[in-house]
Amino acid sequence: MDYAELSRILDASLDDRLSPGRAAHSRRVAEMSASLCAREGLDPERGRLAGLAHDFCKELPKGEQRELAAIYARGLADASDSSTLMADKVMHGPAASALLARDYGVSDRELLEAVAVHTVGKPGMGSLAVIVYCSDKLEPGRERIDSSYRERCLGLPLRDMLLAVIEGVLRWMRSQGKAVAPETLILYSSLTPGTPTK
Ligand SMILES: [Fe+2]
Ligand SMILES: [Fe+2]
Repeated sequence: MDYAELSRILDASLDDRLSPGRAAHSRRVAEMSASLCAREGLDPERGRLAGLAHDFCKELPKGEQRELAAIYARGLADASDSSTLMADKVMHGPAASALLARDYGVSDRELLEAVAVHTVGKPGMGSLAVIVYCSDKLEPGRERIDSSYRERCLGLPLRDMLLAVIEGVLRWMRSQGKAVAPETLILYSSLTPGTPTK
């Protein structure tokens, strides 16, 4: 089955799996991701599929999310990655990735990684993962993002876009008095060697 066909199948089941707001968010992420893929010379249908799938498991009971995420974690070459991915707020990513592989026969490792790490990212993440991560944070339904910041980010080369998006996440988390996920700080440090993050 090709990516466009899989996207149609996923899109058709989105409203059964997700609340209207989250289904709409997923479709906006899919659109932005497809368009950034086209810009970067990647297959836009891969971006669309990853965007549609990224929050596919977010409304499953936590126990089901954990079981699926554990399937993904068992397949990782580096077991040290798994503790990060099993955190409560993050595990819907690896869960969706495991579901795509198990129930939809997806074997595209870059796509599976992009879905798995979309919440907090990962140092060394590939272009598709960067695109899905940024689209998740920049899609036009994100009300805390103003349009000039969005347009500025979208006009940057991919790695600079990632850096600008992470800086936006850090600013927002701190303004809300929320703790920044250690993984986000590690990712930020990997992009800005020598820059203190605290
Ligand atoms: Fe998510
Ligand atoms: Fe999302």
